[in-house]
Amino acid sequence: MELDILEKANTKDVKALLREKVLRLKKERNAYIVAHNYQNYEVQEVADILGDSLALSKATIGTGYDLIVFCGVDFMAESAKILNPEKMVILPVREADCPMALMVTAERLREKKKEFPDAAVVCYVNSSAEVKAESDIACTSANAIQIIKSLPNKQIIFVPDKNLGHYAQRFCPEKEIILWQGFCTTHIRITAQDVINAKIKFPGAPFIVHPECPPDVIDQADHVCSTSGFSPYIAKSKADTFIIGTEVGMIFKLKKDHPTKRFVMPTEQFVCQTMKMTTLGWVAHALETLEHQIEIPEPIRVKAEKTLRRMMDISGDHPNAAIASY
Ligand code: 13P
Ligand code: SF4
Repeated sequence: MELDILEKANTKDVKALLREKVLRLKKERNAYIVAHNYQNYEVQEVADILGDSLALSKATIGTGYDLIVFCGVDFMAESAKILNPEKMVILPVREADCPMALMVTAERLREKKKEFPDAAVVCYVNSSAEVKAESDIACTSANAIQIIKSLPNKQIIFVPDKNLGHYAQRFCPEKEIILWQGFCTTHIRITAQDVINAKIKFPGAPFIVHPECPPDVIDQADHVCSTSGFSPYIAKSKADTFIIGTEVGMIFKLKKDHPTKRFVMPTEQFVCQTMKMTTLGWVAHALETLEHQIEIPEPIRVKAEKTLRRMMDISGDHPNAAIASY
């Protein structure tokens, strides 16, 4: 942290100073700050755009900005770089990775492809650039069913999230989905009993859940959706209390979008540690030092781009990105 900030700290709140610094540097660098819905609220507040994985990947394409600061986890910043090779893309905290994305490697995927030579490979965007390069098409939690259905192959190798793959299988009985045994280390923490307890405590409250949760939790759902689907569902519902089945960062946006509604978490365990590593201080540091720049070897990037673009061609425009208006 800069000395001048520490010196001024006695007279002005440090967070406010950091915020001013971020906004000033953002302008100077002509930077686009992109934040995932799970980010700390202080980071969401300075972002130009807030959204789910699909919306954010798309939002980075064709902007007039010189620099993209991706406040999320590594695979998201990688996707932005894959789609914008000419732009500098920065992940403020190098260690902010997605544990689920680390559960599949390109090498192990190549072995699996040999076992099922007729299968198409669908990779959840929560995967490395190398894994994307080995896949036929990508998907997100917002379009997994649509992507799988669009493929001519009966057999689908789905990596790495077994829970999203299992959820998609419910809607694609005509397909044989070969599940990888990966999972989200955050969404795996909720149990069906947690949901039952919350429903007893808040009778009539709809349970909205992310498809990275285990199947018996999904069975309890009133609505299953990506992080961009929560707010539109709440907008249409007459209920005043909602049980939220995803990472706690989501609550900030929901409260902002629906100030009169009440949101409850069925478990206190819904915190993604790596999503929470990015603080306002790290965003300021990234803008100042231009650390940590995403680099992807060109042959891998080119293949991974095809995988992402095939997904985008099928899923069309995704309307749920929220332009932040703070
Ligand atoms: P979405 O925002 O695409 O629903 O993804 C959730 C997630 O876990 C991202 O890491
Ligand atoms: Fe990965 Fe789960 Fe964290 Fe998303 S919430 S970044 S899937 S560990």
